[in-house]
Amino acid sequence: MLAVADLKKSFLSPEGQRVAIVGVGRFALAAGEQLALRGESGSGKTTFLNLIAGILAPDSGRVTIDGGEMTGLSEPKRDRLRAEKLGYIFQTFNLLQGYTVLENVVLGMSFGPRGADRGHAREVLGRVGLGHRLEHFPRQLSTGQQQRVAVARALANRPKLVLADEPTGNLDRKNAHEALALIREVCREHGAALLLVSHDEDVLKEFEVRKDFAEINEALKEPAR
Ligand SMILES: Nc1ncnc2c1ncn2[C@@H]1O[C@H](COP(=O)(O)OP(=O)(O)OP(=O)(O)O)[C@@H](O)[C@H]1O
Ligand SMILES: [Mg+2]
Repeated sequence: MLAVADLKKSFLSPEGQRVAIVGVGRFALAAGEQLALRGESGSGKTTFLNLIAGILAPDSGRVTIDGGEMTGLSEPKRDRLRAEKLGYIFQTFNLLQGYTVLENVVLGMSFGPRGADRGHAREVLGRVGLGHRLEHFPRQLSTGQQQRVAVARALANRPKLVLADEPTGNLDRKNAHEALALIREVCREHGAALLLVSHDEDVLKEFEVRKDFAEINEALKEPAR
């Protein structure tokens, strides 16, 4: 479902030095697999997910999602591949502020394979406990509620691959457990693969399969160039 090969990304520091952030040799996820990556703050988890999603272009290397190669595509084609195959729960939500909760989810669907389906969007928002907040704008929600909108938007398209970046970081323990259970259940229902990154041991311990991000991310062992 997901294959990553020799993926590298570095950034220029404000001092003008090139700093290697991501350097993943081989990483793969099978259809339906659920994996949690543990990594401390600043270790490059979000950068890694943005590379997989084609939001960032790597310095070198390849990302293949369900047979389609994300790297090497033009930006519009990357956007299309992302919309067709991926559900991305962003660490910072990335909700559209000028649109209601329902519209955020419907708009997300309109680029995907199922098209805009208000009924399904309502149903998914109901499942994340926001059935009574459909007409609210993001700024009228609590941070945890905004996070749940982000979860609903990512899952509504029934994507083949779900990327979850600290998806319960703003929820209390009970809501975090419930949101995580829902994400995993929806992925199982549709045979989607799930890749979650987190530094929260409470979240990580719910996964049978966990890996240390630093272990797959060998760039951190390289001296900065
Ligand atoms: N656009 C950028 N320009 C320069 N440096 C960047 C840029 N984006 C990220 N970095 C650096 O890359 C490192 C990894 O950032 P990233 O956001 O991937 O970490 P993270 O593991 O997701 O952290 P957290 O757990 O706090 O979310 C950080 O040191 C950050 O300063
Ligand atoms: Mg991050």
